[in-house]
Amino acid sequence: MNDEGHYTTTQSLDQLEQEIAGAIQAIKNDDSAEAFRIKYLGKKGLFRSLLKSVKDLSLEERKTYGGKLNALRNSTEERFGAKPWEESMEGGEEECFDPTLPAWPIPKGSIHPLTKTRNEIVDILVGMGFELAYGPDVETDYYNFEALNFPKHHPARDMQDTFFVSADVLLRTHTSPVQVRVMENQKPPIRSIMPGTVYRNEEISARSNCQFGQIEGLYIDENVSLADLKGTLLSFSRQFFGEDTDIKIRPSFFPFTEPSLEVDVRCFICKGSGCSVCKQSGWLEVLGAGMVHPNVLASSGIDNEKYTGFAFGMGIDRIALLRYGINDIRLFYENDTRFLRQF
Ligand code: DAH
Repeated sequence: MNDEGHYTTTQSLDQLEQEIAGAIQAIKNDDSAEAFRIKYLGKKGLFRSLLKSVKDLSLEERKTYGGKLNALRNSTEERFGAKPWEESMEGGEEECFDPTLPAWPIPKGSIHPLTKTRNEIVDILVGMGFELAYGPDVETDYYNFEALNFPKHHPARDMQDTFFVSADVLLRTHTSPVQVRVMENQKPPIRSIMPGTVYRNEEISARSNCQFGQIEGLYIDENVSLADLKGTLLSFSRQFFGEDTDIKIRPSFFPFTEPSLEVDVRCFICKGSGCSVCKQSGWLEVLGAGMVHPNVLASSGIDNEKYTGFAFGMGIDRIALLRYGINDIRLFYENDTRFLRQF
């Protein structure tokens, strides 16, 4: 029902103007816009019926009242046509908030492949009875070389290109110095693993870096033999690389072990038949090991008549490269999330 009866005088059109302004402001969505259009601007709307009655007015009234009514209709059409409610719909949270839409994903970090590899190695060795120990990255010549049976000027020092801080202080080139620190502070039986970062003054390439992770292992007790070392490394390799893994032990040289050996595991990619990862040999070199040299026991305060022990050391980056089939070691340190997201 229209209330045109209220708006038949020129003054009452001011009231209508206010009413319309309020009604446009009150429009919140398409439904209330349509209701407004029908009420005021539709075929049976207020303006139509008010304009129809203009012809019955006197000439004077037609001019004043009719003119004002026409102007009001035009301005109403214009204001309504500008759809001011759409602006408030965009900004207004109530209208836009749809609780059924899926939420924006919160980006999650992932464990770095080197950390993951180190954690897995540590978990297996801790499960076998080894305890964690740590030593400093900035070491003295004594712990890094001397106490490990590298005499001064011994050519074996050349195996490890060292970053020196001063004549006697350096960045450790391996985690083996932590063995000495552990033996100085504990009495046998000692079963320790010592993860850490090591530094070497080497050309950076796809295969080598000037810093990388190592894990050192040490077992000192009465009657520890090479058979214990072999059994420990075989058990570790089968837990880490797979149940059907075989190991191969080759003689080697390290100043701090006698005898010294290197351990290969059967290539877990081709199972020994030869592939690009193992360079067709069927074997992957994974760690160095040996029986702790009596000189090292003595310089660490361990009775080398009563005790023997074995030690081993492995490079974490190298094992992670092999494990994940990565062909460039530098990727581990570039923090490119396209690489890291895959782990
Ligand atoms: N320290 C050696 C290196 O960095 C690795 C190593 C070899 C550690 C034999 C040992 C070991 O404990 O017995 O190349």
